[in-house]
Amino acid sequence: MSLDAQALSERLTRLHLTAIRDQLDSLLDEAVRRELNLRDAVALLCERELDRRNERRITMATKIAHFPYLRDLDGFDFAAQPSLDKKQVRELAACRWVANGDALLLLGPPGVGKTHLAIGLGLAAIGEGYSVLFVTAPALAASLAKAHAESRLEERLGFFTKPKLLIVDELGYLPFEPNAAHLFFQLVSRRYERGSLLITSNRSVGEWGTVFGDSVVATAILDRLLHHSQVITIRGDSYRLREKRRSGLIKSAPLAQGEPA
Ligand SMILES: Nc1ncnc2c1ncn2[C@@H]1O[C@H](COP(=O)(O)OP(=O)(O)OP(=O)(O)O)[C@@H](O)[C@H]1O
Ligand SMILES: [Mg+2]
Repeated sequence: MSLDAQALSERLTRLHLTAIRDQLDSLLDEAVRRELNLRDAVALLCERELDRRNERRITMATKIAHFPYLRDLDGFDFAAQPSLDKKQVRELAACRWVANGDALLLLGPPGVGKTHLAIGLGLAAIGEGYSVLFVTAPALAASLAKAHAESRLEERLGFFTKPKLLIVDELGYLPFEPNAAHLFFQLVSRRYERGSLLITSNRSVGEWGTVFGDSVVATAILDRLLHHSQVITIRGDSYRLREKRRSGLIKSAPLAQGEPA
């Protein structure tokens, strides 16, 4: 059987083998150059197709995650943040905690890299094949409260329960309304032992009663979160203000209100 290039391209399209279709000539050249036998040549084609699919999946999953910006862990300057254990972060990037549905709390004052690390770990989770969604705590509270008011709470809780990893950023800068605290509790309950939560906060867990405006709800939330969890407390000065400190514009970073001890 001999197919002209056009017919072969159409068949590859029908089979959704678009990477092989688009790179066929160069892949065949490569197979000849490397003197691959037929089996290895087929393996090479499969590998390139799978690479393309993985790239597409990562691009799509990254869009769906709604990160505020993209930063990876390679871009994190661990030397500037001695309170962080680089090895622990590297282990977290392997995502066993996500596979297990564990929680991760990243605590620390403003500008120390909590959001950067959360995004980096989120991207690592996507790389490992997990679904991820990023949301700020105020946006999450507002979304749940709105859905509740519109009798769509079930659907919204389902939406936030679906991703294998939910990142909730900036818990503690704004206090929760009492109703929002109860809604957040429902979400944590649903996700408990099913999907992972990564929460960043400028408040120590001891202050979460104030954040949620209800110490009973805060205790119930923490009880579930801390059951299978890692808590990382980052200390130090804001990375944002580093340059200003260096130039002598300010002496040291102002202490955040409620900075975790
Ligand atoms: N150790 C670091 N290496 C490289 N960049 C860093 C580091 N720490 C922080 N940054 C950068 O500094 C900026 C502030 O960091 P980030 O937003 O992660 O802080 P944060 O702890 O989330 O602060 P906030 O509590 O105010 O939200 C970001 O642009 C981030 O990429
Ligand atoms: Mg942040």
